[in-house]
Amino acid sequence: MTVSFKGKKAVEAPSGSTLLEVALENGIPLYHTCGGNCSCSTCRVVVLKGAENLSPPEDPETQVLDSFELKPPHRLGCQALVLKGEVVVSIPERAKPCRANKTPPVTKGRHATY
Ligand code: FES
Repeated sequence: MTVSFKGKKAVEAPSGSTLLEVALENGIPLYHTCGGNCSCSTCRVVVLKGAENLSPPEDPETQVLDSFELKPPHRLGCQALVLKGEVVVSIPERAKPCRANKTPPVTKGRHATY
């Protein structure tokens, strides 16, 4: 699987990784203020190609996207799993950190454990 971050680079992604994990593991800055717990929306990306190669949004992601009035092709990087093929995303300007955030997500995978 390949994930291309528009304007940055294309990287190989293990199946089942979140877009946030793929970004951080490849040195691509992507905000994740809530630590990947599906509550802040700062990990939002715009899917330009290959949306069908990602896991479909589940209720927690849809609720966060709706609360921030984010419509498709927006996805939350901490929730969208790369399942197959090629995916091309862009990171919206307002979601870019002013400096690289190298803090790993608090949890691996899609949902936090409470
Ligand atoms: S990191 Fe907060 S919603 Fe994804």
